[in-house]
Amino acid sequence: MAGILADTEFQLFSRLIYEQSGIHFSEMNRSILDTRLQERLKITQRQDVKNYYDYIMRNPDEMKMLLDSVTTNLTRFFRNTGQFETLERFVLPDLVAYKTKINQPRVRVWSAGCATGEEPYSIAFVLKEKLPRHFDLEIIASDLSLKSIMTAREGYYPESKIEGVPGPYLARYFEKQESGYQVKEEIKSLIRFDYHNLKFDSGLQHVDILFCRNVIIYFDEAAQKAVIERFWKIMGPHSYLFLGHSESLFGMNTRFAFVKTDWSIIYRKFIDDGEKKP
Ligand SMILES: C[S@@+](CC[C@H](N)C(=O)[O-])C[C@H]1O[C@@H](n2cnc3c(N)ncnc32)[C@H](O)[C@@H]1O
Repeated sequence: MAGILADTEFQLFSRLIYEQSGIHFSEMNRSILDTRLQERLKITQRQDVKNYYDYIMRNPDEMKMLLDSVTTNLTRFFRNTGQFETLERFVLPDLVAYKTKINQPRVRVWSAGCATGEEPYSIAFVLKEKLPRHFDLEIIASDLSLKSIMTAREGYYPESKIEGVPGPYLARYFEKQESGYQVKEEIKSLIRFDYHNLKFDSGLQHVDILFCRNVIIYFDEAAQKAVIERFWKIMGPHSYLFLGHSESLFGMNTRFAFVKTDWSIIYRKFIDDGEKKP
């Protein structure tokens, strides 16, 4: 299909999307934006791009739909298994020891950019089993894509998506149905699914474990830095950040220390209390 975006229109829409979400469209992925806009024009019955632009400026719901349409929601259960080993064998024992010492037996986790839910459910399985029973657990999972959030809330996955879930978790926490698997209520009830755009403040506080994997890869450097700085502010004093496999804070001037475990690389919030700067 031929493109519909003239150069000035491409700049107009890529700037708009960037300002609204941090998602950066370069010339290289211009055709993706073009295709998504063609779809939105058709659905909203707009004659041309100019007309659609005027429409979207008057219609915040359509802005959400456009942003949703340009996101990539690819995910899977236990994606990057090394990080789940790190969660179970390094982060949790360390956090439990710290929280026990300060007499605050609770853990708050945020899966930011959770897509269709496989990531927060994977986290929930591990924490359900490994967190001491007397600890309070709160998992918040959020995304910019309303469609993805709806799927996540439902917690129903076709057989093809289940691959990667370790057998014991599958047996304990899913109900087999005719053509797929339903996550059980005892797991669903641990997670609060919310719409949230990482461009804005989350209103969260004291987050102990933050997963934001394969999200900032779509942002430019300025937007990445802004998100990471916002994360730092809402994380607890003794907390951990998980980023995606191809995302790194290396070379970025942040207040996170690099932690290499036997299984993966993660980041620890660094507080300037005399400790050596990372
Ligand atoms: C590739 S998925 C990653 C899912 C999961 N974290 C993982 O690693 O498997 C990226 C997700 O980030 C979300 N996203 C992109 N920009 C966002 C923003 N500004 N605010 C919140 N979520 C965003 C997308 O909607 C998408 O669902």
